[in-house]
Amino acid sequence: MSKRENVNVTNEEIENQKRIIRLVAEINAGSEKFAFVETYGCAQNVNDSERLLGMLEEMGYKKTDDKNKADVIIYNTCAVRENAELKVFGNIGALKALKRAKPSLIIGVCGCMMQQEHIVEQIKKRYKHVDIVFGTHSLYRFPEIFYNAENFHERVIEFVNEDGKIAENLPMHRDNSPLAGVSVMYGCNNFCTYCIVPYVRGRERSRMKEDIMKEVKNLAENGVKEIMLLGQNVNSYGKDIDGYIDFPDLLNEVSKADGIERIRFMTSHPKDLSDKLIDVMAQNKKVCKQLHLPIQCGSDKILKAMNRKYTSEQYLEKIRKVKEKIPNVTLTTDIIVGFPGEDNDDFEHTMEVLKTVRYDSVFSFIYSKRHGTPAEKMEDVLTKEEKKKNFDRMLELQNIISAEKNKEYDGKEFDILVEGESKTNPDFMTGRTDGGKIVNFKGEKSLVGKIVRVKITNAHTWSLSGELV
Ligand code: 5AD
Ligand code: SF4
Repeated sequence: MSKRENVNVTNEEIENQKRIIRLVAEINAGSEKFAFVETYGCAQNVNDSERLLGMLEEMGYKKTDDKNKADVIIYNTCAVRENAELKVFGNIGALKALKRAKPSLIIGVCGCMMQQEHIVEQIKKRYKHVDIVFGTHSLYRFPEIFYNAENFHERVIEFVNEDGKIAENLPMHRDNSPLAGVSVMYGCNNFCTYCIVPYVRGRERSRMKEDIMKEVKNLAENGVKEIMLLGQNVNSYGKDIDGYIDFPDLLNEVSKADGIERIRFMTSHPKDLSDKLIDVMAQNKKVCKQLHLPIQCGSDKILKAMNRKYTSEQYLEKIRKVKEKIPNVTLTTDIIVGFPGEDNDDFEHTMEVLKTVRYDSVFSFIYSKRHGTPAEKMEDVLTKEEKKKNFDRMLELQNIISAEKNKEYDGKEFDILVEGESKTNPDFMTGRTDGGKIVNFKGEKSLVGKIVRVKITNAHTWSLSGELV
């Protein structure tokens, strides 16, 4: 157990933060204050923002979507690609006028970008209107950081370079949704050569099963029907705890929670996808028949340079097994186009994989150089224009495949978990099939959180339309 004591933030420390939360709440008592939190990037970041908002709510701040109304503005940032970083810098710059008009406004930036020293330096020097800066490892210390900035009118910049800890029992804000994300582990040990995540999220650390189950049961009691188990590589779950249960067993455990009808998970690294996991997916009715398995590239030369630790053939063998055991499985993947050293021939291998697997959808990205990663120093073969051309060709191919795959749904009936109103038409509800396909259909708001039978009447590239049976 001693190993865990080093990983979990101590109870004393959590209690200390909670004491500060109560202190701020007392100061705020009687006044109406608002917090604006914007999240960039992945589901893990969304989960972190729920924690931030949870702490802010207990401190007496109401959530708002209007920056002008806010007393606190926080950007929870993503460092995976440069685009996201540039957007954050632009948005922070744009807050200058707001701060001038309302000097009491507290502006904070946190998350993965702030876990990089060169970015923190940039914020310190060029964005003087930012009051608080803290990285992913300091999230649980937000109450103290916030209190110091607010109360002593000082800039608080916290940069801790460590492997990262687990903070349990922090307050959490949940939207009124039948879906919820639950982190099962944090960090990553894989060091794919293009990726910043291991540097900003630290080493792999699994939450104790009991803590996960407590959270899941609590969510179920509050009306949640579908759980998304989150981790950078969920297949590594439990490997850092001696004699612990593995991810497939955890899935079975979570499925025993009353009220939880569906379980999904993200992300699996192909090298660690076990037969046992495939079997549990096939056998456990509550585990959705949906698998996100990022291949990144179809060329073995590039996969090696990416340090992915599998060949395209090994990957395809796993896909064959998955399809054989779970015939109606929905498959998705991530692809990086234009990794250093990738030539047009390598790229054709990726196109071949798309044609072979026929994914339901693909999340594709043009390679973005990340500071401090091994790939930063690798040389490009293709020009920016050539990469873009390949990227567009790939999208074109995948759009055809996605549309064809959706067409197979036409005329068939599916169980849909209703998530809420459709964004485009309030008379329509939106939900998903077990495989995760979005379905829009005419229906009442009272259906939210229920599983209903819908017949598909129209298949589009990205979604399906249907009617209640
Ligand atoms: N450039 C482009 N895409 C990246 N990803 C991770 N790092 C980079 C990068 N430097 C993509 C991978 C990963 C997804 C979450 O983001 O495809 O699976
Ligand atoms: Fe990044 Fe690779 Fe870890 Fe995924 S497995 S977070 S791509 S280093």
